[in-house]
Amino acid sequence: MILPTDSLMNIHPTLYRHPTADLYKPMALAGVVCTMMDTTVPGNVHKISQQHNALTITTQHAEARVWIYSPTIIRVNVSRHFDAQDHSFAVIQPPQGNIRYDDSPDELSIHTGELELRISKSPLRFNFYNADGILLSGDDERFGTMWQGEKFTNYRKLFKDERFIGLGEKTGNLDRRGSNYVNWNTDAVDYTPKSDPLYKTFPFYIGLHSGLTYGLFLDNTHRSFFDFGASTDHSMHWLGADGGDLNYYFFGAQGVANIIQDQTWLTGRMEMPPLWSLGYQQCRWSYMSAKEVLEVARNFRKLKIPADAMYCDIDYMDGFKIFTWNNETFPEPKAMIDELTAMGFKLVTIVDPGIKIEDGYKQYDEGVKKGYFATYPDGELYIGEVWPGRCHFPDFYKAEVRDWWGKSFDALTEPGVAGFWNDMNEPAAWGQNIPGIMRFGDKYMPEVRNAYGNEMSRGTYEGTKALLKGKRPFVLTRAAYTGIQRYSAVWTGDNTATDAHLLLGCRLVNSLGIVGVSYVGVDIGGFSGNPTPELMVRWNSLGVYTPMFRNHAMAATVMREPWAWGKQNEKIIKKDIEQRYKLLPYIYSSFYRSHQTGLPVARTLAIDLPFDELVYDEAYQNQFFFGDNILVAPADSHQREIDVYLPAGDWYRFGTDEKITGGDVISADAPLTDLPVFIRAGAIIPMQSIVQSTAEQGDGILQIHVWNGEGSTDFVYYEDDGDTYAYEQGAYYKRTISFNAETGNITFSAVEGTFTSRFDRIMIVSHGFGKTEDWICYNEPTEFTVR
Ligand code: GLC
Repeated sequence: MILPTDSLMNIHPTLYRHPTADLYKPMALAGVVCTMMDTTVPGNVHKISQQHNALTITTQHAEARVWIYSPTIIRVNVSRHFDAQDHSFAVIQPPQGNIRYDDSPDELSIHTGELELRISKSPLRFNFYNADGILLSGDDERFGTMWQGEKFTNYRKLFKDERFIGLGEKTGNLDRRGSNYVNWNTDAVDYTPKSDPLYKTFPFYIGLHSGLTYGLFLDNTHRSFFDFGASTDHSMHWLGADGGDLNYYFFGAQGVANIIQDQTWLTGRMEMPPLWSLGYQQCRWSYMSAKEVLEVARNFRKLKIPADAMYCDIDYMDGFKIFTWNNETFPEPKAMIDELTAMGFKLVTIVDPGIKIEDGYKQYDEGVKKGYFATYPDGELYIGEVWPGRCHFPDFYKAEVRDWWGKSFDALTEPGVAGFWNDMNEPAAWGQNIPGIMRFGDKYMPEVRNAYGNEMSRGTYEGTKALLKGKRPFVLTRAAYTGIQRYSAVWTGDNTATDAHLLLGCRLVNSLGIVGVSYVGVDIGGFSGNPTPELMVRWNSLGVYTPMFRNHAMAATVMREPWAWGKQNEKIIKKDIEQRYKLLPYIYSSFYRSHQTGLPVARTLAIDLPFDELVYDEAYQNQFFFGDNILVAPADSHQREIDVYLPAGDWYRFGTDEKITGGDVISADAPLTDLPVFIRAGAIIPMQSIVQSTAEQGDGILQIHVWNGEGSTDFVYYEDDGDTYAYEQGAYYKRTISFNAETGNITFSAVEGTFTSRFDRIMIVSHGFGKTEDWICYNEPTEFTVR
């Protein structure tokens, strides 16, 4: 192919001095064409203009556009054929108005007050500075952005001390430095702690260097790639995609939490989930009949092990046809669900995208008639095999198809299903190699594959929300792209019953939290393989502190229910599940905080302590905060003592109230009966007495647990009906509870909102004051003293 001469002329002069530039040297010196892969660079700036909200910069071979979204968010798009539709699956905010910029012969500069973007003209390079003029991140001077064919790569500076966190569901270390990743949503059967890619795409990372923070979100649904200095002698980091534009949002806020807040402002935050979905969930592939589902549910009640959700995996359907029930094994779905409801259970059922090819099957007939399925370029319907056999795949990118899909859920909502589990939506087809010529309307699969899971979940969420008439649907998905939190919770797919997966699960959950996805779970116990009793017990204890707490197992594995592990283990499992229920007032308030701010419920220590070396140490990188006040140190099933990094301050062991001074690594006992969990001194944690499900009224006492500390602390307690959208109209109960360690005073702010708390008494439980005393107060307390 021909390399255009002027593109060579615009490679930065330093290229000629760099040893890796040998390939270019003779060509550039000769200034002639040569045969190699078509490599182009944007070239020099020719023209600058303002259109709508964008500043458009025309270069020899490309056009760059810049938009300001907020003082800390600037978007850059570098393209050779910009699509005027400018669609995003992720972003929900519009850019701000006109951009003011300074123009000099060499450089354009855009100031937002908090962030400055300097754009060099010859050649085109982008560099972002903070308000003090210190460089946060920018293009690699030598290479900037280049295309090889349709594939583009943006080579970026790499600072000596730079670390990277993010990218969501990715294996490997918390610090991504030295690793590289691909985003290509994949049915990652039997994935290992090193596999890449997995099911989801979140092309967003946070860079940390020189005490500074920045974020970058590459909004592009083609196969994309990120390299954090893996094979370049740490001379640069780079990102790119197989097609589309270099289209990124740069976040310049200081502090990881502020960047996450900005990123979730841009791409949306989760709604309040239904309260029942935060209880314990029992799943299996599959409970084979209504009889079996009911037996399992009854056993929870008989053994007094709390639980809220039962699941039906693919076998509830007639021949795996979506939106059908098997007449023989699930003859009366409504009767089954009514009985579950009477026991305080909700039912979640699975749906896959593949629609079985079978005349007379409603979704097949309608989909074919209306042209709702993906095709080959010649218009022939694409066929792939999944559970039902030969299937067509809905084109969820079309609003009309999502609407049709959403309405079909009446087959599930009418008998009373409350949760909708979206699986196989990478999309998966046996052989795992759907050809790139599969087409959705005017888009081929390689362009939009990574957003298929989002668009399916969106159809499910919008449809079921309408059908449930004011109640919150619970939607769960396996495949996802940035922004999924607006529609669905996620889980990390088919993990394995090993200790390595137990620990990897913590990193996956924590990393999903960095990219704005708070409602996350893993298959507790491991999907494939059989856990040892010790692994099951340990993993269950970790489930207490996982945003979604779901026990799930693959077909043909041993039964996994809490009573399947012997009486002794059943007791431990039961106690841990009870602990989850005791903590629900704290967990629900933490979800509210996340709904408001986008900050995750389970979060890596790197959010609060981004420049603390020990946070990234492989020995401690799996630790996380659960809500603001609880630190969880995961131990595997063999460890009975572990090293824990406790950040500065005082801590209390949750299980024993033993006080420990932080700022160091400590050795902690880790019996199977007591996962190492620590409470921050000064913490306020609202709890309740054990209930068997969230449907149970309980004893009406809200327990406010307070641990002694220093200075003053507070906690925003939040409650609503847990079930409807009335909270959006002010039907919530919210108050700030404050603790002053000097005076011992605990104060309650006036109640905000119109909801009446389901607790009619408040009990104060003090920890670390020498003695534990309980105070019970009726009628709206405002102040207590614990000294
Ligand atoms: C996929 C899912 C798994 C489910 C199974 C059967 O492997 O990831 O959770 O149980 O399909 O539907």
